Amino acid sequence: MSVLPTELKHRLSAPLKIGNLEVNSRVLQSPLSGVTDLVFRRLVRRYAPTSMMYTEMVHASQIRHVRELPIIMEIDPGERPISIQLFDCRPDFLADAARKAVAEGADTVDINMGCPVNKITKNGGGSSLLRQPEVAAEIVRSLVEAVAVPITVKTRIGWDDGEINILDFSRRMEDAGAQMITIHGRTRAQGYTGKANWEWIAKVKESLSIPVIANGDIISVESAVKCLQETGADGVMCSRGTLGYPFLVGEIDHFLKTGCTKALPTAAERLECAKEHLQALWVYKGQRGIYQSRKHMTWYAKGFPGANELRERLARVETVEAGCELLDGAIAQLRQQNRPELDSPPVRQPA
Ligand SMILES: Cc1cc2nc3c(=O)[nH]c(=O)nc-3n(C[C@H](O)[C@H](O)[C@H](O)COP(=O)(O)O)c2cc1C
Repeated sequence: MSVLPTELKHRLSAPLKIGNLEVNSRVLQSPLSGVTDLVFRRLVRRYAPTSMMYTEMVHASQIRHVRELPIIMEIDPGERPISIQLFDCRPDFLADAARKAVAEGADTVDINMGCPVNKITKNGGGSSLLRQPEVAAEIVRSLVEAVAVPITVKTRIGWDDGEINILDFSRRMEDAGAQMITIHGRTRAQGYTGKANWEWIAKVKESLSIPVIANGDIISVESAVKCLQETGADGVMCSRGTLGYPFLVGEIDHFLKTGCTKALPTAAERLECAKEHLQALWVYKGQRGIYQSRKHMTWYAKGFPGANELRERLARVETVEAGCELLDGAIAQLRQQNRPELDSPPVRQPA
């Protein structure tokens, strides 16, 4: 049972101010490529209605001349607060894309300066901007000029251990007009391995006036509280902890607002959610949604006897009916067993 430290209760009780936008939650759902589509965000938002969410990252140059925007930019009518995340390295392409994002209903436009994937960094986007701070600042300046909504940046602490430049970099982003910065406490070289370094996030927080959001290894209420205490950050952003667990942002948000922990979903309830997720992906994306649902379902199916075998079968599902049948069978079995030890969430590990 966690206790909400008084310091946090006071410090984080006011809304998060991102430029002229007020957000009534200090917990954010990160952009996750291949995951944070409209279907996933609906599930997260059910438990965290006021939290800031992000689309999957959108390649600015790919939407330059298209008539129809990609499905990953689709936002539910009235879905707020929502940010569309863009990546590229060309200020003019990004400015064009930002105008389209705002026309789609984005409350903020976020620039990805943290993606470690080679395909993206070799073209000058994602985390390679950490090595081109002038270009990164130019991007922020041109987006600030192009649109009226706040421009935010999500980045890492540096390129590698020998090149940790987040202090200088984040100051430059603030000077260029960024209204919030999210820092993933790993270097580009780390990818998603090793522990996130929250110490650098604390140093950045001390030196900036804009909100600083801490990201990396936020997997529970306890880790969120620890991170907020150690970094002094204005909020936390959840990432891999939400894979197969769209309850996480809401759990942390509820705790920060009330000091009480929510009843955690049982294994059967988590599988009910997997089923709803599968059905919604089928309705929204058809057969492609079924293929995408496989990874989601395997993330949900963790932490109970028989989960390994269930995961193997879910990973091969071809139809919505087959997926529902497998999940219904597992849910019925879990309910029959009625085992209280299955009522806590599985240990969430990076996927
Ligand atoms: C599957 C996956 C997709 C991701 N996609 C994005 C993305 O589109 N944009 C982005 O800024 N970061 C993306 N990230 C990085 C996460 O948002 C986050 O910064 C990182 O996972 C660290 O947090 P964690 O340790 O809590 O997972 C992605 C990470 C994963 C695992």
